[in-house]
Amino acid sequence: MLEKAKRLLQPSARSAVPPFLVMDVVAAAARLEAQGRRIMHMEVGQPAAGAPATAIAAARAALSSGPLGYTETLGIASLRRRIARAYCEWHGLDIDPQCIVVTTGSSAGFILAFLAAFEAGDRVAVALPGYPPYRHILTALGCEPVGIETTAQTRWAITSETLIAQHRARPLKGVVVASPANPTGTMMSASALAELIRCAEDAGIAVISDEIYHGLDYAFAAESAAGISSDAIIINSFSKYFCMTGWRIGWMVVPPALVRAIERLQQNLAISVPTLSQIAAEAAFDGRAELEKVRQGYEENRRILLDGLPRAGLDSFLPADGAFYLYADVSRFSSDSFAFATRMLEEAGVAVTPGVDFDPLRGKNFVRLCYAGTREDMREAIERIGVWLKV
Ligand SMILES: Cc1ncc(COP(=O)(O)O)c(C=O)c1O
Repeated sequence: MLEKAKRLLQPSARSAVPPFLVMDVVAAAARLEAQGRRIMHMEVGQPAAGAPATAIAAARAALSSGPLGYTETLGIASLRRRIARAYCEWHGLDIDPQCIVVTTGSSAGFILAFLAAFEAGDRVAVALPGYPPYRHILTALGCEPVGIETTAQTRWAITSETLIAQHRARPLKGVVVASPANPTGTMMSASALAELIRCAEDAGIAVISDEIYHGLDYAFAAESAAGISSDAIIINSFSKYFCMTGWRIGWMVVPPALVRAIERLQQNLAISVPTLSQIAAEAAFDGRAELEKVRQGYEENRRILLDGLPRAGLDSFLPADGAFYLYADVSRFSSDSFAFATRMLEEAGVAVTPGVDFDPLRGKNFVRLCYAGTREDMREAIERIGVWLKV
């Protein structure tokens, strides 16, 4: 019986994606907290603040006003219109609400985009370092992620040269770009993004632009790929700027040719996105004043860290243009960032993410620090890191 179950229930090869190591750090931090230790959390990339009051009020009202049924698969029409309007407000762009697809976080947006645009076996370029699920979702869907190593010279972004070199070696079908990026926090200039998109599309490579950190840009304004190409697939979310990680809601802007394919996929994969979250998300657009204060807090945290970390001994990081991350080179102390992060957690009580999550090779020399917490936590983390590194 057991033998039969073992034979039947073997995990598929496609499910053998690597774990997200940051979650191991989260578990280790929780174990220390259970022993009474106070831990500075700089590992998980999520806002310390909750959804804006306007979103909470709308959700409360919806809960007491009747049943919450399914919605249209592509999202509640008024939310799709509101998202389209935001493109006009943020970027001066005229986006057809029919091209907006509401999704269960940007995570579901990736699955829909990859399924709609690529066949199994297609090669899709992603930046290294980069957000690991790009690679792992592609793998699980039978596509081949092609990691392109980026460098400081190009602000840690894929360039048209590196993209085309890979394409010549073996044709690519897609490329994922992100600005601001995770884990680096670096951004592409408007001209670098436009050049990459034009060059990719001329070569027949579809562009997927992850714009989840838009709204959190400090060095210069982030450009939407929607303003550069009507063929790019844009993925965004209410998780970061809108502080709604747990509500699991995001959106896509998709070329008209893909709308129906994505609708069919979402009909089958999810039916629709949680209704309560859609209602709250629409109201979140009215919480701008509150959200801007949160953003100012990140900007202040960024300044505190850029100032304080070098004095504490961590003095080599990539330009912190946006999002809420610093990607620090720790090669002076260790060539094993996982061991370094584990020791920092155990001995200094500061939780950070090892770079190997984001770049299996060069990530051994980096850790990511998230500065979405409170100002007090940033100051205490600097203090603790300083004492620890001098031990
Ligand atoms: C770059 C990037 N894209 C996408 C996501 C997924 O976010 P969500 O599914 O909450 O929208 C994250 C989450 O940390 C991220 O950092």
